[in-house]
Amino acid sequence: MKKPNIPSIPPSEITPKEVYLTRREFIKAAGVIAGSLVLAACVPNLPEDASTQPAPTAAPGKTDELGDALTQYEDITNYVNYYEFTTNKQGVARLARDFQTSPWDVQVYGLVNKPQTFSVDDLVRRYQPEERIYRLRCVEAWSMVIPWVGFPLAKLLKDVEPTADAKYVRFETIMRPDDMPGLESPLYPWPYQEGLRLDEALHDLTILATGLYGGELPAQNGGGIRLVVPWKYGFKSIKAVVKIELTADEPSTLWSRIAPNEYGFYANVNPNVDHPRWSQASERRIGENDRRKTLMFNGYAEQVAHLYAGMDLAKFY
Ligand code: MTE
Repeated sequence: MKKPNIPSIPPSEITPKEVYLTRREFIKAAGVIAGSLVLAACVPNLPEDASTQPAPTAAPGKTDELGDALTQYEDITNYVNYYEFTTNKQGVARLARDFQTSPWDVQVYGLVNKPQTFSVDDLVRRYQPEERIYRLRCVEAWSMVIPWVGFPLAKLLKDVEPTADAKYVRFETIMRPDDMPGLESPLYPWPYQEGLRLDEALHDLTILATGLYGGELPAQNGGGIRLVVPWKYGFKSIKAVVKIELTADEPSTLWSRIAPNEYGFYANVNPNVDHPRWSQASERRIGENDRRKTLMFNGYAEQVAHLYAGMDLAKFY
């Protein structure tokens, strides 16, 4: 991604887990002299307290439904795409350390009978989030297995009653320029926006996540609340959502505005359709060394393929 100014990061440029672990040990060892400006400038990919507090761990042997192990909490929270902070994946966690994720409000409006603004606390009380272990496949050809905590977006949408004219859902990320230095870049058409067709949004796999690994949703992963659509490339899973609008027309999205031929509206994971600049046939699971084959619809074909019956999947990439 990073389209506007810099050549895209090749998928091979993934920090091997060994490097992470080594750095983590280094950070722990360096803890005594933390506070030194020099050190602060070169190390801190981990939130300050992550080096001293035990990270949440998965129940031993916990996997997704394909038997794939969960990605480490440290990797999920420190290898992050969040361009409102920075395009440097490993710099986001530090920049987002003091980002306020609570209280958090989401406005739901547009073609609905009952427009309403909800607080995330409200949503959690109403919809009782549950654990959903999903694969996340980034368009850059890396992937993770993430134990989200969330609830189906369908529950919320049904409560606001979309009108008969509503065909799409548009999502928008918060803009806090004082806290999000990446927003200074004029190269991206902020705010970050994404969209789904209404039937995709109503699919049970589509969730709004309020946590991960059984805990809160860290700011760098999209707290207060984010969308997760596991059969689509990760850029569809928009973070820090503050607006949800029901529309009649297909919404414009940040990435399709930048490069429509590279980041289409549908963006379903499809190993048979290469990105114009790299192959999508395989991926690197963060924490593993060997590449693995990318699965059609990221392994969720049985649940979602019917949504695209009769469509040219190559065209609608
Ligand atoms: N949402 C916002 N607001 N800004 C972003 O830069 N990056 C997207 C998506 N949502 C992004 C975003 C991309 S490219 C990916 S792969 C996923 O978030 C990454 O989610 P994660 O960092 O929690 O793994």
